[in-house]
Amino acid sequence: MRVLIIGATGMLGTDLQKEWTQDEIIPASSRDADIRDPAQVRALVAHTKPDWIVLAAAYTDVDGSEGNPELAFAINGQGTENVAQVAREFGARIFYISTDYVFDGKSTRPYEPADPIAPLNVYGASKAAGEKAVQSHASDWCIARTSWLFGAAGPSFPERLLRAAETRPELSVVADQTGSPTFTRDLSHVIRDLVRKDARGIVHITNAGACTWCEFATEILRQAGRSSVRLSPITTEQAARLAKRPAYSVLSPASLLVHRISLRSWQEATTAYLRDFRDCGKLR
Ligand SMILES: NC(=O)c1ccc[n+]([C@@H]2O[C@H](COP(=O)([O-])OP(=O)(O)OC[C@H]3O[C@@H](n4cnc5c(N)ncnc54)[C@H](OP(=O)(O)O)[C@@H]3O)[C@@H](O)[C@H]2O)c1
Repeated sequence: MRVLIIGATGMLGTDLQKEWTQDEIIPASSRDADIRDPAQVRALVAHTKPDWIVLAAAYTDVDGSEGNPELAFAINGQGTENVAQVAREFGARIFYISTDYVFDGKSTRPYEPADPIAPLNVYGASKAAGEKAVQSHASDWCIARTSWLFGAAGPSFPERLLRAAETRPELSVVADQTGSPTFTRDLSHVIRDLVRKDARGIVHITNAGACTWCEFATEILRQAGRSSVRLSPITTEQAARLAKRPAYSVLSPASLLVHRISLRSWQEATTAYLRDFRDCGKLR
């Protein structure tokens, strides 16, 4: 099977390339094809003739999207539509990576794939546009929503936290948003397995369990031997970020259990992440 990974240079894409050894993997970055340009996407797909396209490319700057919605929609909405149309034209299946930020966070139980989406920010709205484009323009598709990604190819929350902990004795971390941190290496294995099982429809993929950013930070510092750094819990309002974020965006594992797939806890995944982070010489 030939699998074209678009967004192969990103945090998730890097792990997908490393972890996916069983099939013929063709990595592509924006230098191979800018997904905003249908002609470039068509040339890439015509040349590589994939059975599956994993679309991990996106404009992922959540706060940056607020000031530049045109760019977010051009890449995450129209760019995704371009890939979906070309996939259909060439008979390739598409596996689209989406986000928990398509939800508004008002739920009191983990979100299921069929729950209504209502993004709170531009990034979430642009990814929702990407989901719609895949559903309306591709003939054979799978959409995987995931959340709070972290991986050694980062940068991501754990790396930023550990860097800050090197120079500051106290750090403020948001304590009123709850979600599920997801290790990109674990996510890569599940994407590979779902593609190999020919999965269809919408699935939710995260590490097991849920926490606030502050609880995640506490666990990272504890495992990294930096518990002497004090954490001060703050509210979303105090953090004053440009983009609104859902207060609760835990994704239910039920759609994965249908495929007999389950992931380890976010705490165990943090241990594996820190090992990778040390091995690549990033943990000082
Ligand atoms: N990060 C998170 O916490 C999170 C959470 C939930 C869902 N997701 C989703 O998971 C996926 C992977 O996220 P990530 O954090 O690994 O992303 P990332 O590290 O920001 O990487 C983005 C990738 O997209 C490519 N790209 C950007 N603009 C492009 C364009 N116009 N044409 C072609 N390629 C383009 C980049 O290629 P170049 O290197 O060539 O620029 C890069 O390979 C995304 O779909 C994201 O929406 C992320």
